[in-house]
Amino acid sequence: MDTIMDIAQKYNLYVIEDAAQGVMSTYKGQALGSIGDYGCYSFHETKNYSMGEGGALLIKNEDMIEPAEIIREKGTNRSKFFRGQIDKYTWVNYGSSYLPSELNAAYLYAELECAEEINKDRLASWEKYYYGLSDLQERGYIELPVIPDGCQHNAHMFYIKAGCLAERTKLIKYLKDHEISTVFHYIPLHSSPAGIKFGRFSGKDIFTTKESERLVRLPMYFLMSNGIVCDIMTWNSMQYSYVITGEAEDNPSIMFRYYKNIDNIPDKYIYIDFGRDKILSCDNPTFQFNK
Ligand SMILES: Cc1ncc(COP(=O)(O)O)c(C=O)c1O
Repeated sequence: MDTIMDIAQKYNLYVIEDAAQGVMSTYKGQALGSIGDYGCYSFHETKNYSMGEGGALLIKNEDMIEPAEIIREKGTNRSKFFRGQIDKYTWVNYGSSYLPSELNAAYLYAELECAEEINKDRLASWEKYYYGLSDLQERGYIELPVIPDGCQHNAHMFYIKAGCLAERTKLIKYLKDHEISTVFHYIPLHSSPAGIKFGRFSGKDIFTTKESERLVRLPMYFLMSNGIVCDIMTWNSMQYSYVITGEAEDNPSIMFRYYKNIDNIPDKYIYIDFGRDKILSCDNPTFQFNK
């Protein structure tokens, strides 16, 4: 954002910050959505804070609030009328009907009142995924997300990168067979029908397609950490092995892993206290957990 804001300042441009998924995230301590001249949040049902469909526009320059209200209210100054600033309202500019319904707004309001709690819970699930799956990254089976310096995320999503498209396809199928719904995210814009029609790829596509074919989003939702957190099977192409990571039912700080024939070790359960990186019990005494 620093670079974007510098360029905008240099060329006297406005920045509209698409922070659709960024509520409660920060960049260098500043809330996403509040850095540009305008910030946009989405409260679509897929977002951390939702009203089904809807969003918010953050406006830095107070002079721009009234024109935005007019556009939102079908081109009328009805908002001023409701505030008692004028005695009747009329059409003053172009606009459309961008108002949320009160019922949807009430639903969102309740979520925003618990925003800290929701954020904390999602971050806890995110961390559990990250530390629970980190040894698989160390073994070179998967890649985990990277959070750039100065950024605080809001656990909107947790993804892993499988080795290649074929591995990802099998992993998604395997998880689906075990009633765990995962998705990839997304088809790169330049290879979508509309992208082909209206856009072009700038430079050579070295990473975009390749990396997008490896990405799998794992389940992530509020209160996930209270149930089985991970139940994630990771597939190893060489040995057709799986790892299931979950949470011990009676003690949420202890996670279990079920290694199915991984590294030629027979099926077994291993109970690990991730807080202390300690194996609490293990069916197979020869297994060395490399944490
Ligand atoms: C980065 C980004 N911008 C915009 C949108 C669109 O948001 P909405 O559906 O609320 O218009 C999304 C939704 O997924 C998004 O992730």
